[in-house]
Amino acid sequence: MCGIVGYVGHRNALDVVMGGLRRLEYRGYDSGGVALPDPTTGRIAWAKKAGKLANLDGVLAETTMPETATGIGHTRWATHGAPNDRNAHPHLSEDGRLAVVHNGIIENFAVLRAELEAAGHELQSETDTEVVVHLLSDELQRTPALDDAVRAVCQRLEGAFTLVFTDAQQPEVVVGARRNSPLVVGRGDGENFLGSDVSAFIEFTREAVELGQDQVVAITRDSMTVTDFDGAPAETTSYHVDWDVSAAEKGGYDWFMLKEIDEQPQAVAETLLGRYGRSGRLQLDEMRLSDDELRDVDKIIIIACGTASYAGLVAKYAIEHWTRIPCEVELASEFRYRDPIIDRSTLVVAISQSGETMDTLMAIRYARQQRARVLSICNTNGSTIPRESDAVIYTHAGPEVAVASTKGFLSQIVACYLLGLYLAQVRGVKYGDEIDAIMAALEKLPAGIQRMLDEGEQVRKLAAELVDTRSVLFLGRHVGYPVALEGALKLKELAYLHAEGFAAGELKHGPIALIEDGIPVFVVVPPKARDQLQEKIVSNIQEIRARGALTIVLAEDGDDDVVPYADHLIRLPKVPTLLQPLVATVPLQIFACELAGLLGHDVDQPRNLAKSVTVE
Ligand code: F6R
Repeated sequence: MCGIVGYVGHRNALDVVMGGLRRLEYRGYDSGGVALPDPTTGRIAWAKKAGKLANLDGVLAETTMPETATGIGHTRWATHGAPNDRNAHPHLSEDGRLAVVHNGIIENFAVLRAELEAAGHELQSETDTEVVVHLLSDELQRTPALDDAVRAVCQRLEGAFTLVFTDAQQPEVVVGARRNSPLVVGRGDGENFLGSDVSAFIEFTREAVELGQDQVVAITRDSMTVTDFDGAPAETTSYHVDWDVSAAEKGGYDWFMLKEIDEQPQAVAETLLGRYGRSGRLQLDEMRLSDDELRDVDKIIIIACGTASYAGLVAKYAIEHWTRIPCEVELASEFRYRDPIIDRSTLVVAISQSGETMDTLMAIRYARQQRARVLSICNTNGSTIPRESDAVIYTHAGPEVAVASTKGFLSQIVACYLLGLYLAQVRGVKYGDEIDAIMAALEKLPAGIQRMLDEGEQVRKLAAELVDTRSVLFLGRHVGYPVALEGALKLKELAYLHAEGFAAGELKHGPIALIEDGIPVFVVVPPKARDQLQEKIVSNIQEIRARGALTIVLAEDGDDDVVPYADHLIRLPKVPTLLQPLVATVPLQIFACELAGLLGHDVDQPRNLAKSVTVE
């Protein structure tokens, strides 16, 4: 939530900052703004505007901005204060010398605001952020160096924040600070960058530095200094980003989401790559938990939010089946508030594409305080959740830019399967040939996903037929149940429709009352091999059809039992039941994306949402 860019170097800072903001816009699009320290006036030149960055572009086209080699910028997802021009970042000191941009929430802002107003400051906005720039302005009277003054201000702040500052009287430096919100440094040649994530500067450098919790960084053209809030030098970790700028661009697609849906065979293949050796054993290099520690595990709790939590639900079926370890799935936002029973033998698995979701981060901190071991499944190198976990399994989906998760979801499911099989291997519950068989089926999945993409036209036509529908239901059983939940979530967030997913067995316990003439209902049918599940869901299809539903049935090749009851039949390749979500999800993603496009919605940036939810 909120994207931040900072730059000091030798290029036109406005171009660099706007380029970075464009790639970060998925983090929030309520407003955008830039600030450039103008040494000729000793004041900040700035521009900001509510709405998407295109609006800011419009303002900049009519504003003369100075040529500077230093600048900061912001794209906002509003927390405190309406998404209007006044509340847009940057916020400036009264003398126009300083500017700040912020991601997070300053929890004690009301107290600080009262104190500043009592001292005679006149605040211009309703944001929690603005207090920071006035505190800094006062602090600079006592502490002239920008980084020293920022450290002093940070000591006074509570909550979550990434802050980036520029000072028109010290234009050679940009200072950033972070607590609980993301900030990474990009190291260039004669230039350095700050960004909420590496896509802010990937066009210029792939050398990045992770910042730790409660650290302040000062960048100049040629240097980077990192300390804690007390000024003590801090250790950092450098890494090389293994994707380039083309991965973060649309590459000829109308929407990032379409591109990311199409990248799913590759995302799954890359996540599997190198993890199952010729030795017939799974190898997870970033595991960091010893076999003895994994043998001690007597309970698994998976925590995640939204789509990632549905990947967790799929994982529960697979992990319990393969390992016989009890496995719960819980929304991260609920987990730590219910006094969960966890101890040293509990393995908490946090699933997060971004690695920055605040609810998930807080949940893993809580779990570690309770002495549980934490393993994260994450797509973003250098992000906070894997850094604060005991072990990590990275998904290799490449950057996911569209707000709605697609390739992130499929690769999370794959990583969960790998974890389940690895645990089964370590604990001796599954042996070489069984693991071999599942891995062989998994390795064929990219081709199965590709087939679903190749047959997408049928789903797109269906979306066109249903463009006037106001309500859609999704039913599934077993691992088809989380697929139904995911299908409904995609449709809600992209097409702004009433959509609900149910476990098909629950139908007669209430939801069947929603069935009325013509209501579209997607039904995910488990493979026939699965004991009785397929028969039961075929009965469910008949029950809803008898009551007027328009049935859209997803069933494997050769399952002809469903044919008489399917108004539309979407064929799935034959795969083992536990792996079916990897193919069954794809048509539901295509449907939601297509319908949203037909309704004229912004598919990549749905209203009110942001990609990484870095506030609770
Ligand atoms: C929905 C979606 C969200 C995310 C959720 C968790 O399409 O993308 O529900 O799955 O916000 O995000 P991460 O995985 O980054 O923790």
